[in-house]
Amino acid sequence: MPSVVVVGAQWGDEGKGKVTDYLAQQADWVVRYQGGNNAGHTLVVDGQTFKLHLLPSGVIQPGTSSVIGNGVVIDPLVLVRELKGLRESGLPDPKLYISERAHVIMPYHRLLDELEEAERGADKIGTTGRGIGPAYVDKVGRSGIRMIEFVQPDRFRERLEAILPRKNRILTQVYGAEPFEVDAIIEEYAEAAEILKDMVVDTSALLSDALDRGEKVLFEGAQGTFLDIDHGTYPFVTSSTPSAAGAAIGAGVGPRRLDQILGVFKAYTTRVGSGPFPSELQGELAERIRQQGNEYGTTTGRPRRVGWFDAVMGRHSVRVNGLTRFAVMLLDVLTGLDELRICVGYSIDGERRDTFPADIKELSRCEPIYETYPGWSEDITGARKLQDLPPEARAYLEALEGHLNVPLGLVSVGPGREQTIFLENLFG
Ligand code: GDP
Ligand code: IMO
Ligand code: MG
Repeated sequence: MPSVVVVGAQWGDEGKGKVTDYLAQQADWVVRYQGGNNAGHTLVVDGQTFKLHLLPSGVIQPGTSSVIGNGVVIDPLVLVRELKGLRESGLPDPKLYISERAHVIMPYHRLLDELEEAERGADKIGTTGRGIGPAYVDKVGRSGIRMIEFVQPDRFRERLEAILPRKNRILTQVYGAEPFEVDAIIEEYAEAAEILKDMVVDTSALLSDALDRGEKVLFEGAQGTFLDIDHGTYPFVTSSTPSAAGAAIGAGVGPRRLDQILGVFKAYTTRVGSGPFPSELQGELAERIRQQGNEYGTTTGRPRRVGWFDAVMGRHSVRVNGLTRFAVMLLDVLTGLDELRICVGYSIDGERRDTFPADIKELSRCEPIYETYPGWSEDITGARKLQDLPPEARAYLEALEGHLNVPLGLVSVGPGREQTIFLENLFG
């Protein structure tokens, strides 16, 4: 079993960074396959906190190689800054390989992200403002610039000269914004292109060869299944494919090379940004979970919306990802609550519904149907095996396993790497 996909099973921020860092202790390669610096992945190792946006969460693991796959959109300035940040934390430079085929986020993507959001007004998505959507639009619209062009000054200029006039017409005539100039962009990005140049390679070939040699490859999803452009709460989604199949396309390996699919869930649910959220909590209880879980965005600092675990969403995630195991994160955050709830179905217009609706209007009318479980008050942050947990916490995990019908693989009881209960050797 040489490969594992770590996939967000809810609306992002499930703790994928922590899980990836934990499993990276056994991996040879860690690969980001989609998204960009809209992601914020937090690792806490020996009391030191690292917040990563573009670099795979294996970078602080000595001996591990890191790959940014073709499915990622790269803001080169952010990537260079992040590499510099690692160095400033006293870490050695990571062994980093960047796909030639990954698309580049340009300043006009960031500006368009802002302008489009402003235009949506009350219907805004609440994007991270990092230019992610507009960069993917250009990729699909065949007006993108890829890393292979970006790092060759003459090719970069050629692409910009072909693309920018039309962008500028949109910026000035549709939005009344200022146009960009080719020379100014080239000047701003020249240093980053020079720094990144030698890391840009055919990462598909690199990973396929590694898998052929039996090396262990970890694919790190960003965002989550319900932010997936196809399977999420469209249009309140991101513009890529976080779900597991995206790992094959976004890393350039065949789908049969993905062995284990580990779905990462919080013990409850959070969401940052707009869109329906059936099991959302308000008031004092929401505030308590938000404080206890420090539920503020890693990338934008926005308070996250919080709610109970939703098993209807969970089953949707099991299906679209083909989960083989699941992880439950932030279980410690629920400590001290008298009772816990799991949403097991929806009620809509007096009828029961057990599947997740595609229509967000319908979804926003869904009332959660809950099962209630007793809480626990013991501190669980020191637990290292299931037997260390109070019976109520074990019963809650068993209930989740029953609803998802997938074996539990990992439980997290605190942000630290060591605060982990690991049940399965996923790499076999
Ligand atoms: P990601 O985007 O999926 O990598 O998740 P984020 O890093 O954005 O958000 C997860 C947050 O929860 C981070 O601040 C983590 O340090 C923290 N975290 C992860 N696992 C646990 C846990 O088991 N307990 C607690 N209290 N915090 C955790
Ligand atoms: P990680 O990898 C949580 C949300 C934004 C917004 C929507 C679209 O840390 O789990 P975008 O900037 O992608 O066009 O925004 O998606 N979003 C995330 N929410 N975690 C993330 O990443 C997210 N990345 C994007 O808040 O609702
Ligand atoms: Mg995050």
